[in-house]
Amino acid sequence: INLAVLFGGRSVEHEVSVISAVQAMASINKEKYNIIPVYMTKKSEFWTGEKLMDINSFKDIPALLKECTECVFVRSEGKVQLIRQKMKKFGSNLISDIDVAFPIVHGTNVEDGALQGYLQTLDLPYVGCDVLASAIGMDKFVMKILLKDAGFPVLDCCRFSSYEINKMDRMVEEVEKKFGYPVIVKPINLGSSVGISKGKDRDSLIKSIEEAFEFADRILIEPCVVQLKEINCAVAGDSESAEASVCEEPVQASGDDILSYDQKYVGGGKGGSKGMATLKRKIPADITPEQDEFIRKTAVDAFRYLGLNGVTRIDFMIDMATDKVYINEINTIPGSLAFYLWEPKGVKYTELLERLIQLALK
Ligand code: DAL
Ligand code: MG
Repeated sequence: INLAVLFGGRSVEHEVSVISAVQAMASINKEKYNIIPVYMTKKSEFWTGEKLMDINSFKDIPALLKECTECVFVRSEGKVQLIRQKMKKFGSNLISDIDVAFPIVHGTNVEDGALQGYLQTLDLPYVGCDVLASAIGMDKFVMKILLKDAGFPVLDCCRFSSYEINKMDRMVEEVEKKFGYPVIVKPINLGSSVGISKGKDRDSLIKSIEEAFEFADRILIEPCVVQLKEINCAVAGDSESAEASVCEEPVQASGDDILSYDQKYVGGGKGGSKGMATLKRKIPADITPEQDEFIRKTAVDAFRYLGLNGVTRIDFMIDMATDKVYINEINTIPGSLAFYLWEPKGVKYTELLERLIQLALK
């Protein structure tokens, strides 16, 4: 079975994706699958080659690409083919037929349904969420509206678009009236904490709004849970087989409320090369059995309700002052595919990957 693993792409989470994909390629059963790595550069060029399976190659990307082949997907003769991008006059341009694709990408332009739409157009089966579910997962506002409508616990929020940026007073007034301080300001469609900051008072709120708009055209602002415990739970399968992992509790490296991009990836291993797998975390999370049960059940219900597929990670917040639990966000392709949340259940990474590929081929 020819399996194309797609990663990288035009996203602020490009580097995280390289780590997630290389980790996964190392664990995919190579007796069963012929892995064809397809690396998308930040300029959206597609490259393939053996060297793309070694994390050390990515220290010098221009040198790496000299040893790879620029390529494109086409559908021809009833198959999806990966062919050389620069046509040669003689000889075959075919690199490989492709049976199934595995997008291991994070962030805008790739995880948000864009890449899934491309694969769907090619009529190539792929691992994970379809176009709509991917788009919902990337849009923190749409996701909230849908979840709220179905009765899931989410925090209320204000949403603003960049055309309102010159109406700063009106935005600030609305936030103050609705929530007071502190609040959290987030770009609507980014991951890995990029562009997220806390508004502690009017001045810092204005700064946070301006900063978030540097990253996205739409932002949302929600009340800050001061006594916060973050709990994440992965769910894998499809709507029939959806199963929750154990819960994890990411541990703050500093006193601030928001885990930064650096804390998530750079602090973890040398140059971040170990990625999500080495982020400080408590597994299983330090919560009551009732909270654990509620979170795992809610995660599976949300997975089913939003029509998710593959392995996703649903991030929760517990307000320790009130014991209320909220869904914070959904990651349709979580960092490291959240493999470390399955190992405590006895599911090895190779087995998790096998389940995901089989779902795509179903
Ligand atoms: N968006 C990153 C990769 C995560 O939350 O897992
Ligand atoms: Mg996220």
